[in-house]
Order: sequence, then structure tokens, then C-alpha cells
Amino acid sequence: MRIITRRGWEIAESQVTPESVALNRRAVLGGTAALLAAAPGLVHAAANPKFEAGRPLTDEKYATTYNNYYEFDESKNMWRSAQKMKTSPWTVEIAGLVKQPRKIAYEDLLKQVSIEERIYRHRCVEAWAMTVPWTGFAMSDLLKIAEPLGSAKFIAFETAQEKSMGNLALPLYPWPYVDGLAIDEAANELAFMPTGMYGKALPPQNGGPIRMIAPWKYGFKQVKSIVKITFMEKRPRCFWEEINGREYGFWANVNPDVPHPRWSQARERLLGSDEMVPTKIYNGYGDFVASLYSGRKSEKLFM
Ligand code: MTE
Repeated sequence: MRIITRRGWEIAESQVTPESVALNRRAVLGGTAALLAAAPGLVHAAANPKFEAGRPLTDEKYATTYNNYYEFDESKNMWRSAQKMKTSPWTVEIAGLVKQPRKIAYEDLLKQVSIEERIYRHRCVEAWAMTVPWTGFAMSDLLKIAEPLGSAKFIAFETAQEKSMGNLALPLYPWPYVDGLAIDEAANELAFMPTGMYGKALPPQNGGPIRMIAPWKYGFKQVKSIVKITFMEKRPRCFWEEINGREYGFWANVNPDVPHPRWSQARERLLGSDEMVPTKIYNGYGDFVASLYSGRKSEKLFM
């Protein structure tokens, strides 16, 4: 595990975070659980004009207690029931069109990647948003480990089916939760695999121990608690697309000018303050990702 420096689109955590918190985070980056356990509670800085996201970090208590995780239940406060989820030991299976399909223990995976911190805006299709300091590794690191074959064009991420997940008994939903990316999206520098947030291990309600994030897409694309990553030639079957393909598509890039069939996407509510702010195309990350779609204009890119 190696800690690397930030690139242009990232903001230094020290710019938005008091020193004590930053020290806490370093403990996580180094995997020093004991240090973390001994650390005082985290207090987050208020809005900082230097913050590149143009908005303050969402307070940890909102980001970790207002969640979408349908395997547990459909309410936003499923975080309590998620505490029963067993996230260790954890194994991630690499399957499909790769040089060598295999299972990797979570700890072994972490040894092969560079852990870094990124502060990203998150935009749910339901028109709420948060800004979160994640720790994790670039999805491009995962691609290097997986060694996909030339025929692999898409990647499917699959969530665990764990016994604490009460809703799995409901045949109403097409479990397991699966969603995916095109391989060039996965290789984009913004695509990220969080293993922590707010300087701590990723809590189960937010997708611990490992999830994925493509911050220019609606939140339903950001698969939680990943146990299997499959490389394929065709687009994967996606959970929400299967439930309602008229409302939830494969690409699901954020766009304020393309309304959801039942509500506007022009604005978003910030968790915590409940302030309503304008939504930006590609969630404000267009400079980094818009070129991915120049050859895909005939697709439904924004739903
Ligand atoms: N992953 C799984 N396995 N199950 C889910 O219900 N919900 C998605 C996404 N990933 C979901 C999921 C949706 S709709 C959103 S907005 C985000 O997770 C929410 O992430 P958060 O709870 O960390 O804010």
C-alpha cells in the first residue's frame, strides 16, 4: 500500500479540515486501527472558500445516517440495522473476461493499491446531494490487478448478500444489486473505490468494506459492499434498470436539463443544511469526463 499525492481536481484535505482530523485520517491511511480507536471524535470544518467543490463537506452524521441501501430496507435510516452486517473477513471475486479469474482477500487487495483521499460531490437521482471525504484507491488500480482481456468492454459490480440484510427475502427486487460501467469509464481518473470515509473505515451503511464511485453519475450507479467484479463484453444487467428501465438507464450521467420522469433534476438538496442548489451537468465533473461520451451521442446518456 502506497500513499500518493493529489491531482489538480482534488483539494487538499488540510484546506477543509482541522489538523486533529487530518491526523486521524492519516491513521486510517496507515491502517492503524488502534490509533483510530483512541482518537477523539471527528469535528468537521465549516465551509471553506478554497473548497473546490464550492460547498462545505457534509457533516459526517448526515452522510452516515441518511442512506440508500435497499438490501436492508427502503427507509433512509437503515444505518442501525446495517451495524449487524459482517464485513470481515471479506473477499472480492474477479470474474469474467480477465487473464486469470480469482478471489482476492480484502487485505491482499489493499496491499496492491495506492490509498489516497478524495473529496467528491455525490448526487442521488432523488435530488439530494452530499460532499464526502473518501479514502480508497483509483479504479484504474483495480483494472491493473484484474488484467482484463481486450474483449472486455464493461464491468459489473455486485453487492454482497449477507444474512443481516432483511430485504433480501423480498422477491420483489432482482437481487443481487448489480450496476456497472463501461471499461473506459472505469479507467477514468475520477472513478474510485472507497474503503473509508471521514477518516474511518467505510461503515456498512455506506457500503463497507469496499464500494465504487463514479461521481459524475447518479448515486444508484455507486454499488456498495462489493463482492464480485465481472468483466464482460456486453452491458451488465443493472438493478434499477431491471426494476424500471423507463426511469433508470445504464449511463445515468447527471444532467439538470434532463428531468426524471417524475421530478425535476435542475436542483439538489444538500444533506444537513437542506439548502437547494443548482445541479451541474456531469455533477460538475464535465472537464474530466465529457469526452467519454463524444462517441456515444446516440445513447440515453442522462437517465
Ligand atoms: N448499493 C446497494 N447495494 N444497494 C442500494 O440500495 N443505493 C444506491 C447506491 N448504492 C444502493 C447502492 C443509491 S440510490 C445511492 S444514492 C447511494 O448508494 C447512496 O449512498 P450512501 O448511502 O452512501 O449515501
